[in-house]
Amino acid sequence: MSNISEPRQVTDIYKFEGMYAMNVDFQRQEYRVCWDGDWRKPPRLGAFPRVDGAIITLVPHSHGVEQLWIRSQVLHYGADSHIRLLDHSDKSQSEEQFPVCKVAVDNRQRQLIEFEFAILRYLRSKAVPVARVHPDPLADENGVFGFQMEKLFGIGLDCIRKYQTDIIKCLNQIHTNGIVHNDFHPGNILKNHKGEVVVIDFGRSGYVGSKIPPGKRLPWWQGDVYSFEVDKVGLERFFGMSKRLRWQFLSV
Ligand SMILES: Nc1ncnc2c1ncn2[C@@H]1O[C@H](COP(=O)(O)OP(=O)(O)O)[C@@H](O)[C@H]1O
Ligand SMILES: [Mg+2]
Repeated sequence: MSNISEPRQVTDIYKFEGMYAMNVDFQRQEYRVCWDGDWRKPPRLGAFPRVDGAIITLVPHSHGVEQLWIRSQVLHYGADSHIRLLDHSDKSQSEEQFPVCKVAVDNRQRQLIEFEFAILRYLRSKAVPVARVHPDPLADENGVFGFQMEKLFGIGLDCIRKYQTDIIKCLNQIHTNGIVHNDFHPGNILKNHKGEVVVIDFGRSGYVGSKIPPGKRLPWWQGDVYSFEVDKVGLERFFGMSKRLRWQFLSV
């Protein structure tokens, strides 16, 4: 695993106060690195926290989030969350089963993650192959900020077609239970230790027929109501699945 004395990027590059910025994890704290000029040329972080031509600020965390960061390290990051792995030496037996934490650091991410936790619990109760989560969410004085889940593994784009029947079956089960995933692409399809396909990342999902909140809309989809069609188009667009094939399997 990574050396904690090295800074690790934990967000995409974004605009901040007229500059470009990205956040990094350094010694289990979060910092914002801001720079002027070309967004494609972020400053070198080799001598962090000394960075030429950049402004470095500490990103404040609640006590609960801070405690979680201290006992975990960066596994991945997404557009809407931090994905962290609990330290081995620190894991209780239940944490052993759920070592991966999806953690929010702002209110927008908190709302998405609290909703996602509820959807994952609901779909799992219906035996849909989505990520298994610890029954208690991670919470602090401001409410839910994350949840713990099982460790999963990437499938790899070159192999994904091998799994297409299983992927379609999962999507079918999600739809049968009235949920639209709304972000159905290969980065959100992993496999468990038994090699079974598992769907993650329900942060943008919702109940079919309900209005899509503005923060959950996809840049490439115009509809404003949750419809199964968006996931079917995702299958075609990201998995290269032909219309004929997707209709052959997808019954709803
Ligand atoms: N349980 C997990 N085990 C291993 N890797 C994971 C797990 N959950 C997420 N990841 C990795 O983190 C990435 C981002 O997680 P995701 O839930 O999709 O966050 P976001 O909502 O920010 O896109 C995933 O694409 C995957 O590579
Ligand atoms: Mg994702």
